[in-house]
Amino acid sequence: QSNSNQFCEAGIGDGCGTGISSSNSKLLIKGGTVVNAHYQQAADVYVEDGIIVAVNPNIRVSDDVTVIDATGKYVMPGGIDPHTHLETDNPFAESVDDFFSGQAAALAGGTTMHIDFVMPVNGSLTAGFEAYEKKAKKSCMDYGFHVVITKWDETVSKEMELMVKEKGINSFKFFMAYKGFDVMVNDELLLEGFKKCKSLGALAMVHAENGDAVYEGIKKMIELGITGPEGHALSRPAVLEGEATARAIRLADFVNTPLYVVHVMSIDAMEEIAKARKSGQRVIGEPVISGLALDDSWLWHPDFDIAAKYVMSPPIRKKGHDEALKAALTNGILQLVGTDHCAFNSTQKALGIDDFRKIPNGVNGIEERMHLLWDIMIESGQISVTDYVRLTSTECARIFNIYPRKGAILPGSDADIIILNPNSSFEITAKSHHSRLDTNVYEGRRGKGKIEVTIAGGKVVWENNELKVVPGTGRYIEMAPYSYVFDGIDKKDAFYLNSLQAPVKRAKSSTSNNF
Ligand code: URP
Ligand code: ZN
Ligand code: ZN
Ligand code: ZN
Repeated sequence: QSNSNQFCEAGIGDGCGTGISSSNSKLLIKGGTVVNAHYQQAADVYVEDGIIVAVNPNIRVSDDVTVIDATGKYVMPGGIDPHTHLETDNPFAESVDDFFSGQAAALAGGTTMHIDFVMPVNGSLTAGFEAYEKKAKKSCMDYGFHVVITKWDETVSKEMELMVKEKGINSFKFFMAYKGFDVMVNDELLLEGFKKCKSLGALAMVHAENGDAVYEGIKKMIELGITGPEGHALSRPAVLEGEATARAIRLADFVNTPLYVVHVMSIDAMEEIAKARKSGQRVIGEPVISGLALDDSWLWHPDFDIAAKYVMSPPIRKKGHDEALKAALTNGILQLVGTDHCAFNSTQKALGIDDFRKIPNGVNGIEERMHLLWDIMIESGQISVTDYVRLTSTECARIFNIYPRKGAILPGSDADIIILNPNSSFEITAKSHHSRLDTNVYEGRRGKGKIEVTIAGGKVVWENNELKVVPGTGRYIEMAPYSYVFDGIDKKDAFYLNSLQAPVKRAKSSTSNNF
């Protein structure tokens, strides 16, 4: 079916609006305010077969089209979560949300796509990718993958190429922390990895904490007898996040390749990103919703089960870091918001009851991100609604090169759409959330703004507080290399080469001893 034909069927303009064939895959969202990252307008949105066909005021359709009234509400692109860990194996436990339960939770919270991290199997990217392909078969929403690099050799280098050229991967993550767990990389590997990423047009991502220093910090806490969850935060202070962020940024500058810093949790890291961006370097900073909505006081809670819920790395920081990170979203130092959703239940967290080193790291957020960010940033007046769309969806789609298929309410885009009622409110509790977790780090939290409808792939999957999700309906979204963050990188290389002066010609001297 051609586009013009679809437009006609949508009933745009004179003489249209008749003869629409009956099918339940047609939706009209009527009377809302459609918000894109750069523009908002009063308009209807017509969807057919999973694709947005028209965005215009007063679209007329025939009776067989399902009409959703969005009067007084915002119609926005579904959220894209750039950072999740579904069904991931941690050294101590496997995270409880799989690709079905985690995605169902996401959809109930207005997120319609996520990008998860493929962990290699014994260093093999191919084996890792295949394992995640299997895990993701039960998907009920669209997803993509980043691939983690944990070791370096010719095979890994070749596999990176294969991932980019044949598997739809355009980003690789490097862990600068977790010493002793077979994932931490040193500067030599980071340099090799960055160079390879650059040659493939793939984005290098870093978990930036100084793993050697964290290891020292952990030893110190254990020596001091601080074995509770607070020891986790005390062992890996913000200065170590700042150091690693600065180092990764400088190495990426040396290689001249773009860098994406995941889960920016501290002022220390944020300021390094600010400095680099100010100098013109291509650095992307991703705070996560836990770092914006929480502070570290929970880690001192006298009830271990409560305190342990908040253990993640880098740790949730002291009050003040959250405010600075929010301001950095307002002023553009940081570009998008993720979750790092990595769900471990209270039984799994209790593995570390006597020793914080054994508490599986990770917090929930895939279901809560959209609501919390709205409440925190929009209700406080810190960002506009268009900014909200950019931070939750559009910028992620641009960085990972899937815009405008994703991240936009435009004709031709995938029909991943949310309807948010700014006059309604949300409440978060483990009793009613859709994750498999028995806890929630946002337990009891209420706020303004409620995502009343989620449409994924043109189907209404969340409405009237009810989920209608089917395993196997989510699609793998391939992501092409050379997103916009690579624009001009080659020119900068050429400029640098041109700026090098010709080698100095020196005559052989007979009196070579100048000392
Ligand atoms: O604590 C965390 N963040 N767990 C997930 C793994 C990671 O470092 O992103
Ligand atoms: Zn017509
Ligand atoms: Zn990480
Ligand atoms: Zn993570």
